[in-house]
Amino acid sequence: MVTTGTPRVVDGLVRPLDAALREASFRPADIEGLLGPVAAGALDREQTLPALRVARGAGPEPLAVLVRLFLCGDDVTRAELDAALPGVGTDGAQRLGLVRAAGGGRGDQVRAGVDLSPVTYEAPDGTTAEWFVTSDLGEAATNAALRPDHVLGVGGASTTLARATIRAPRRRTLDLGTGCGIQALYAATHSDHVVATDVSERALAFARFNAALAGVELDLRHGSMLEPAHDGDFDLVVSNPPFVITPRPDRSGAAPAAGLPLYEYRDGGRSGDDLVRDLVTDVGRVLAPGGVAQLLGNWEHRRGEPWQDRVGAWLDEAGLDAWVVQREVLDPAEYAETWLRDGGATVDRDAAGWDAAYGAWLDDFAARDVEAVGFGMLLLRRPTGTASLRRLEEWTGPLRRPLGDHLGAVLAAHDWLESHDDDALLAERLTVAGDVSEERHLRPGASDPTVVLLRQGGGFGRTVRAGTALAGLVGACDGELEVGRIVAALAALLDVDAASLRDELLPQVRDLVRDGLLLASD
Ligand SMILES: C[S@@+](CC[C@H](N)C(=O)[O-])C[C@H]1O[C@@H](n2cnc3c(N)ncnc32)[C@H](O)[C@@H]1O
Repeated sequence: MVTTGTPRVVDGLVRPLDAALREASFRPADIEGLLGPVAAGALDREQTLPALRVARGAGPEPLAVLVRLFLCGDDVTRAELDAALPGVGTDGAQRLGLVRAAGGGRGDQVRAGVDLSPVTYEAPDGTTAEWFVTSDLGEAATNAALRPDHVLGVGGASTTLARATIRAPRRRTLDLGTGCGIQALYAATHSDHVVATDVSERALAFARFNAALAGVELDLRHGSMLEPAHDGDFDLVVSNPPFVITPRPDRSGAAPAAGLPLYEYRDGGRSGDDLVRDLVTDVGRVLAPGGVAQLLGNWEHRRGEPWQDRVGAWLDEAGLDAWVVQREVLDPAEYAETWLRDGGATVDRDAAGWDAAYGAWLDDFAARDVEAVGFGMLLLRRPTGTASLRRLEEWTGPLRRPLGDHLGAVLAAHDWLESHDDDALLAERLTVAGDVSEERHLRPGASDPTVVLLRQGGGFGRTVRAGTALAGLVGACDGELEVGRIVAALAALLDVDAASLRDELLPQVRDLVRDGLLLASD
């Protein structure tokens, strides 16, 4: 039986499907409750066997049937699915393109043609949305290599981008390379109008279905990169683009090296990191003044050229405010292995193709003197005047909480600092952010600390080492005293020159305001 399908919107069946899935408690928390932590954890790692054993053991209860069918790739009977999806039934699910039934009998087998997974979204204001998102079945469910036009489900990169997206109210948002439409669904929670584009017609069919199931209206457009977007149209652009660097022998971008599969979801058909460069340099065209683009990407580290210079040159060309955070670095071999394993294609470990494909990747990197590949997030903003924000940093630590609010606050703090010279800063009454704690390290028996650390609980969880004066200043920032008065008092207390202390402290205070450890009153 062919196992992959494409969902179709059928009026009169989509709302009953949504109702039936809710009725069955097909939600992440309930699924974890059914499976238990071990099987649920395995399923997260795309290992279906433990979940299958638990779900089969749970009998015909609707949640177990749906987990087996849509998450594990298991066959269920027509009778089981009819009971699990009242109002839709096996015939309805078949008309929606979700399943294929072997026959019309109650005991006939039914197999999923798509993955259908629940997603719970908790908005910054505490409200939650629950969606059901279809995508192509993964290798774990089909036991086969992915098709070239495979439509990805909600994966690690999707979640990374979603958690980093600033969820401020937006007029118009563009989701470039929407795939199953997950970023567009998130965007619709805070945007009046969402345009979602993809070069893949199949991806757009999945996005159309998922939007209908979520009751969300999307403006779906077919086309490559920024082609379907008008100039200056968007307050927000989000994109998890097909950034994977793939060997292309002739640099034309027409086809990857022999033996390497072309996966539309990861391979944008350009040489090296050209796709990410092109997106960074061109995205400003579709942004409204003040509009923000949040992208994920890979960039090459070339011998003798720090990555900050290479990406920095793209930013120069873009002329945008920019903050780039490098989250991970892989050497060429690690990079090639990661993407050779992805997709389950013919180049598995034992195949002769593995060495050839691995070699093609290494040759490709060697041809451009690539020593490593960086992965990270790019936050770009079309300035209303001239660009003033330029920050490229490495941050490889874990990020446990959604970052969007924090990134928005850092942009606002940057703007505030730009409009406050040192005199204005000295006149300001700052407060310490609620998530900042102070950690003191003392030698046993000593009364003065040798090290004072300021730790941020939220955001990037930064740790700042503070000298005596800075620690004293931060400790006094209660919103009552101006920075200038605190500095003067500290100078007297420490018996140092006030002007020198001010010159030493103000840049550090600016850094703390910029990163959200100190807050301005307005
Ligand atoms: C990594 S997937 C991201 C899917 C989804 N936005 C997410 O965050 O999970 C990249 C998507 O870009 C699409 N794509 C590939 N080449 C493209 C191009 N030249 N222009 C627009 N989209 C493209 C793929 O079809 C795929 O849906």
